[in-house]
Amino acid sequence: MALSEHCHELHSHRVCVITGANTGIGFESAKIMAEMGYDVILACRSKTRGEDAIRRLNTMIPDARCQFIKCDLASLESIQNFVDEFHATGKPLHVLCNNAGLTTQMIGRLETDDGFEMTMGVNHLGHFLLTHLLLDDLKRTAKDCGEARVIVTTSKLHDPESMGGRKGPKAHMDFQNLQLDKQGTFSGVLAYKNAKLANVLFTYELARRLHGTGVTCNCFHPGFIATTELFRHFGWPFKAMMYLLSPLLRWFGAIRSLQHGGEMVSFLATDPSLKGVSGKYFENFREESSSTESYDENVATKLWKISEELVKLEDKRKI
Ligand SMILES: NC(=O)c1ccc[n+]([C@@H]2O[C@H](COP(=O)([O-])OP(=O)(O)OC[C@H]3O[C@@H](n4cnc5c(N)ncnc54)[C@H](OP(=O)(O)O)[C@@H]3O)[C@@H](O)[C@H]2O)c1
Repeated sequence: MALSEHCHELHSHRVCVITGANTGIGFESAKIMAEMGYDVILACRSKTRGEDAIRRLNTMIPDARCQFIKCDLASLESIQNFVDEFHATGKPLHVLCNNAGLTTQMIGRLETDDGFEMTMGVNHLGHFLLTHLLLDDLKRTAKDCGEARVIVTTSKLHDPESMGGRKGPKAHMDFQNLQLDKQGTFSGVLAYKNAKLANVLFTYELARRLHGTGVTCNCFHPGFIATTELFRHFGWPFKAMMYLLSPLLRWFGAIRSLQHGGEMVSFLATDPSLKGVSGKYFENFREESSSTESYDENVATKLWKISEELVKLEDKRKI
């Protein structure tokens, strides 16, 4: 097959992997990408929830091309199995959306199968490994079709200068206590803020390392979206307050809709104006500045090296 023909073939079956696509921003993104004709792979930790999401997508979009493949980001083995299963489909990969995330704020300190603090383990380390294992696929697509994109869902809470970021503990990469396992140091809010800072540092470092390959990487803050399941473990006072205040907060622009979150993903994943744009942080469809620490290249390279060690990245997979 000639390259252009091959490229056309790839374009007509553009493939997108979305982590945590069974609910919230991930599900909304999957819906929009499927409506756009993408072949969407829902990388979710629960078979029941993943397959239920597929059923809902098929009902909403009768000609949707979507598939569930199990991927538990709290298990390095599950991530490897996901990648093996994805490779077995023989599909190319055009867009990788590192969207899944959680907070254990109302639960306390948990660990992944591999002994990482859960929030850093799922939000950052799991995606770090997943991205590495899919990089050759993305590079191949970029070579054949001119580009491939990685989209990372972060949060403004990573920024200690932002309104939410300055309340309570402040995000900072403390490499002596990355897992917040030193006696008395764990805070669910801090773990979440740190993981979201790691998301931004990862985005910028990946963009630097992929410069010239045609694979771009950008991150975004979706806004505060009270209707996702991120707050599933929060008590009824929070939920009641959100229920009562939501219309007002929405009117003031303080909270966003799920649709906004999904549209941000599809914008970053597909908008032609963003071809070649890499290593940027977006909010509300605009490029914005992220925190001061997120631009520190020494911090980014240190996080990269430690992440490589933690997920036991083999030498051949290092970039
Ligand atoms: N909502 C907001 O206000 C807000 C603001 C800023 C940033 N964000 C970010 O947006 C992203 C999406 O969150 P959301 O608000 O849409 O929350 P959500 O509705 O709770 O969705 C989170 C998704 O992540 C999945 N997930 C959690 N742990 C996982 C694991 N170990 N392996 C694979 N998937 C896992 C969840 O799967 P299960 O359903 O099986 O648990 C779910 O599909 C997150 O990165 C979050 O930090 C959200």
